[in-house]
Amino acid sequence: MRITDSIVYVGVNDNDIDLFEGQYPMHDGISYNSYVILDEKVALMDSVDAKKSKEWLDNVEKALDGRKPDYLIVQHLEPDHGGSLMDACEKYPDMHLVMSAKALGMLPQFGFGALAARASAVKENDTLSLGSHTLRFLMAPMVHWPEVMMTYEESEKVFFSADAFGKFGALEEDDDEPWVNEAREYYINIVGKYGGPVQTLLKKAAALEISAICPLHGPVLSENLGYYLDKYNTWSTYAPEEKGTLIAYGSLHGNTGKAARALAEMLKAKGEKAEVCDLSRDHMSEAVADAFRFDKLVLASPTYDGGIFPFVETFISHLKAKAYQKRSVGFIENGSWAPMAAKQMKAMLEGCKELTFFDTTVTIKSTLNEQSEAQLKALAQELLGE
Ligand code: FEO
Repeated sequence: MRITDSIVYVGVNDNDIDLFEGQYPMHDGISYNSYVILDEKVALMDSVDAKKSKEWLDNVEKALDGRKPDYLIVQHLEPDHGGSLMDACEKYPDMHLVMSAKALGMLPQFGFGALAARASAVKENDTLSLGSHTLRFLMAPMVHWPEVMMTYEESEKVFFSADAFGKFGALEEDDDEPWVNEAREYYINIVGKYGGPVQTLLKKAAALEISAICPLHGPVLSENLGYYLDKYNTWSTYAPEEKGTLIAYGSLHGNTGKAARALAEMLKAKGEKAEVCDLSRDHMSEAVADAFRFDKLVLASPTYDGGIFPFVETFISHLKAKAYQKRSVGFIENGSWAPMAAKQMKAMLEGCKELTFFDTTVTIKSTLNEQSEAQLKALAQELLGE
């Protein structure tokens, strides 16, 4: 795949992966992107996960058509990108590595200490000429690791953005799913904690004229770039993306789930967007992404062993880890003899910035009755702003 006349995609799909980072289910795989820039000198942009090393190196060889890479630009050392460094260096013994000083220092941690002798560290705004192309390096610490740097190719105005602007999902020609859903899920779960560093990156990007964004996962973005930059601005400032309610529940015997769905129907009947997720069955990473997408969240949990239902507790832990904030939250608790989950869910969220809580807490004793249905209606009215 050609990005421009002199920039070629040489990345690979991973359709065998079950869990990304050991926890995020990959329903449609993921791509590990890599690019070559062909000029008087040849630059290779990042390697790929070790299990796809051979396929990647075959792609590189084909794209180079007999030439050898002069430089391997290492923008990110995380194993999904740094995993094939050693294989590439063995295949191309004269290739020089270029990375941030932090990455250089981390090489031994991944067993790549021997590569330091053939590597150079670059700093903010350092440039590397390939001939007619010039690479300018921009440090991007914590987007998403501390050693990350990004690269702006000045002549064609192509921005190599490391993990930023990536998404889950392998690259398929017939994939017509919009970028935003898998990109949101990827951003919130992988980079979500680091809104401040992403804001710093966006300020740097705003000073560049960009014709295309080449991330390390997902498609190359070359049209309507303002849309993607705007999404990243929303996500990294923790602003809700749209008005609506996520009702996230756990349920032992179905009764809490029934209440969650009843609340959703009340909201939808009044035109409010509402989504329901069963935290025991639905993907946690999708639920977390939806919690950030909407401005309102209702947590519904049975009282379990005197505490919060485990999947709901895990969900709240995920939200806190990703710096959940700036939203309104309501609670539904269930308990056959001593309902106490709501108080504990609220306590878990203490410390999250700028959360407001709805006045009504719905307390169910086993199954909905007249009293708890009235509470459910009162909560719906608050969610609707009535
Ligand atoms: Fe795609 Fe942070 O690795």
